[in-house]
Order: sequence, then structure tokens, then C-alpha cells
Amino acid sequence: MQQPIYDEIGGRDVVEAVVSDFYDAVLADERILDYFDDYDMTELRAHQIQFISSVTGGPVEYTGADMREAHAHLDLDEGDFQAVAEHLEAALRANGVADANVEAILSRVADLKAPVLNQ
Ligand code: HEM
Repeated sequence: MQQPIYDEIGGRDVVEAVVSDFYDAVLADERILDYFDDYDMTELRAHQIQFISSVTGGPVEYTGADMREAHAHLDLDEGDFQAVAEHLEAALRANGVADANVEAILSRVADLKAPVLNQ
């Protein structure tokens, strides 16, 4: 059986490093940082780690809100989504995730565009 992407990319340590770099970049990006003003970043990072772990087939249950519910009140547009996807891609690459796995993860994330943008 093929290994889950989670294991191929290095498991928990790498997912945590990716999420950490991802939020550092998001919170340094003036296009989108205001969206995060009112939120508890510790909780958000924890949920994002669970979420990325579960979309990559890791042994982790995601306990946060569903993607439509989590984002509906933010009124996000395509540009916001694009900015977040770029930061995720950069964080994956910076942590040594191979091209094929970067593409697989971004394609799973792209599948979430409609719910995240509440379309
Ligand atoms: C496919 C892309 C995205 C994924 C996979 C994603 C994932 C998540 C996850 C897992 C949570 C945690 C929900 C919870 O704690 O219950 C969350 C919350 C949040 N996301 Fe996203 N997100 C995406 C796109 C975006 C974009 C484009 C923005 C804004 C530019 C954004 C801003 C936020 C904010 C502000 C919260 C906190 C909302 C709250 O707690 O009420 N997200 N997201």
C-alpha cells in the first residue's frame, strides 16, 4: 500500500513547521492580515495543523468547524484565496516537500475553494 502523503512529507514535525511558516507569511501579508485581527492564533494554528494532517492522510482527527461555516462570515474573494494558497505552497516548498506532494496538497485545497468562498 502506498504511504499517505502525511508520512512521505515527514509527518507531524514537518506539518507543524509548514503551518508555522504559513501563518507567519499570512500575518505579514498586508492584503489579508486584517482578516485575522480578532482570532486566537494559537487555536487557529492548532486547527490548521489537524486540518493539514487529515487532508494528507495523517492519523489526526480534525475537530474544527467545517470550511463553509468557518469562513462564511469573512466574505472572502478569489484574491484572498489565491494569496492564502500561495503562502501554503511557499511554506510546503520551504520545508522540503517534493513537487508531486505539493501539487497533490494544493489540489485538495483547491477543491475547498467553493465552500471557503461560500459560493
Ligand atoms: C483552502 C483554503 C483554506 C483552508 C484549508 C482554511 C482552513 C481553515 C481552518 C482549518 C480554520 C479553522 C476553523 C476552526 O478553528 O474551527 C480556518 C479559520 C479561518 N480562516 Fe481559513 N482556510 C482557508 C482559506 C482562508 C482564507 C483565503 C482566509 C482569509 C484570507 C482565511 C481566514 C481564516 C480566518 C480569519 C479564520 C478564523 C475564523 C473563525 O475562527 O471564526 N482562510 N481556516
